[in-house]
Amino acid sequence: MLQNGLGTLLKHEAAKSERVIDLFCGAASVSWFAAQNFDKPVRAFDLQSYSIALASAVLGRTRPGQCVGAVREWLASVERIRRELPPWKEASRLDDRAPNTASWSFRAKSICAEPVKKCIVWSSYGGHYFSPTQALTFDAMLRAMPKNEPAANLCRAIAIIAASHCAASPGHTAQPFKANRTAGPYLREAWKRCPIMYARKALLSIGPKVARVRGDAIVADAVDVAGKFLHSDLVFVDPPYSGVHYSRFYHVLETIARGTCGLVSGTGRYPPSDERPASSFSRKGESLDALERLLTRLSESGCTVILTFPANDCSNGLSGEVVLSQARRSFKVVQKTVKTRFSTLGGNNCHREARQLSSELILLLRPKS
Ligand SMILES: C[S@@+](CC[C@H](N)C(=O)[O-])C[C@H]1O[C@@H](n2cnc3c(N)ncnc32)[C@H](O)[C@@H]1O
Repeated sequence: MLQNGLGTLLKHEAAKSERVIDLFCGAASVSWFAAQNFDKPVRAFDLQSYSIALASAVLGRTRPGQCVGAVREWLASVERIRRELPPWKEASRLDDRAPNTASWSFRAKSICAEPVKKCIVWSSYGGHYFSPTQALTFDAMLRAMPKNEPAANLCRAIAIIAASHCAASPGHTAQPFKANRTAGPYLREAWKRCPIMYARKALLSIGPKVARVRGDAIVADAVDVAGKFLHSDLVFVDPPYSGVHYSRFYHVLETIARGTCGLVSGTGRYPPSDERPASSFSRKGESLDALERLLTRLSESGCTVILTFPANDCSNGLSGEVVLSQARRSFKVVQKTVKTRFSTLGGNNCHREARQLSSELILLLRPKS
């Protein structure tokens, strides 16, 4: 959508604002775009730590090439540390042999069931989302993480991006691929991916991206912070449309971002529920109230808002029509555009498959008084 009207609107409105706020920053694409293109500080918020790590990796760096050397040193340490982890030899023998997928998966699960001190990726996801050597590589990435910012944030973001490319699951991490006839080939292909290579690729892509003006990113509930903005702020609002909490789809990335994880359970290997961020926007019975409180608080702070939402009925009980009518209560709707974008979560009722085109409202809202 940034190429499809949203980018132009953001540019136009940001020119009149002192800061740009990305209130539900998700994968941080809007935060990155704003930070790279506008001479304004960008502040990003989300309930999920992985989103904040991705946003911070760009918002917190202002010099081209900043921290790239630190990432290279980090990756060199990762290669050394993983070889020193006790199960590395056995894990490499198994992954190099890569027997038929069912045996590989069975053997991988059984060696990863033996806990290794301070290796949470190994015990939470090894033999499921990751092969044994992949899991140890991500654990080595966490162990070798630099202590100082902004290098730590850049390394964390690179580990998250590499994990999202390597995870043996269909685009998100609600469930890993099973080693059966239909999903087995995908499991095999994912387990053969080299996390270090994907980390190097991520460095090439994210390393050159820096903010024109330093900004920041914070884990927070959008409704809690919505009353704290200024009339000179431009606030971008892209709230959830799915009736399933995002943490169900992104817990693997969240574990990599936090570096910790409690005892996982279920076929999805979910962390305990108190470690999974939950949102009122993803509860059918609460989403309307959450939206109303959000918009009221934003209008009270006097900021300008750009809001995007699917035009049709969504699984969290909201729809483009409902969002538009709520927006009209608190704001002057000065521009309403309908565009298309890919839905990646399948959370909207009309398009349950991932990567479908959906019609999307783009609203420009100004305070009434
Ligand atoms: C539609 S996605 C945003 C996508 C984002 N614009 C992007 O480019 O990736 C919604 C995001 O809202 C976050 N979220 C859900 N409820 C929230 C809340 N109450 N406060 C802050 N973030 C929330 C989710 O974690 C998710 O990342």
